Amino acid sequence: MHAARALVAGNWKMHKTIAESTTFVRALLALAPDFDGVDAVIFPPFTALGAVGEALAGSRLGMGGQTMGDTDFGACTGEISPLMLLDCGARWVILGHSEQRANCCETDAGVNRKVHVALRLGITPIVAVGESAADHAAGRTHSHVVTQITAAFDGVTAADVARCIVAYEPIWAIGTGLSDSPPAANNVMAQIRGSVAGLEQTRILYGGSVKPDNIGAFVAQPHIDGALVGGASLGAQSFADLMANARASAAR
Ligand code: PGA
Repeated sequence: MHAARALVAGNWKMHKTIAESTTFVRALLALAPDFDGVDAVIFPPFTALGAVGEALAGSRLGMGGQTMGDTDFGACTGEISPLMLLDCGARWVILGHSEQRANCCETDAGVNRKVHVALRLGITPIVAVGESAADHAAGRTHSHVVTQITAAFDGVTAADVARCIVAYEPIWAIGTGLSDSPPAANNVMAQIRGSVAGLEQTRILYGGSVKPDNIGAFVAQPHIDGALVGGASLGAQSFADLMANARASAAR
């Protein structure tokens, strides 16, 4: 039995216009998912945050930014301030996603700075870590993710670490259809959980080709508390199915 309720997080990446985003939210809420049994948060693109914040106001569906800057304001062309996320109603943020690390120069030190800023402002960070196919093949998965995790939480108290979420996302599994096996992912989560004080209480999500038909097998594992799911084709019914299947599996 899991100590924490399952969490389903939808990372929309560079998908959905404002109209598509609000249509998704209204359709999902109309399906009346069981928010008593499972937590859910979506990460729309920045352009849709304001409208989505209004569409989900008063519901228990959470909303977050896909990344953010590491200061409250400043001369950072193209960057989004954490205060701007809060202004739109966002209370969550993904930090250290592998696509940000690979394409946008996100570093372990930058993730650490952002974790401190998010916690100061009351934003819940989902700290994403994961190894490349080459590291995976060379048996470096555990050392790689533990290095990323210890860097991300450097200087963070155990009580504050416990307020965060971690997502383990093997890079080779993201968007490829090649999900990790649930026991193997669970094994990595156990290493992560033991690496920093406070993580024993933190929800750890698996990410990488999660679908409604495999989320239950992941969440049934003792160290897996939910999933971070990519949004390329994420429709409201699929998201509701992810929530229902995660809830059913976590309750076993
Ligand atoms: P995927 O993406 O579900 O498309 O594999 C997960 C993620 O990148 O967070």
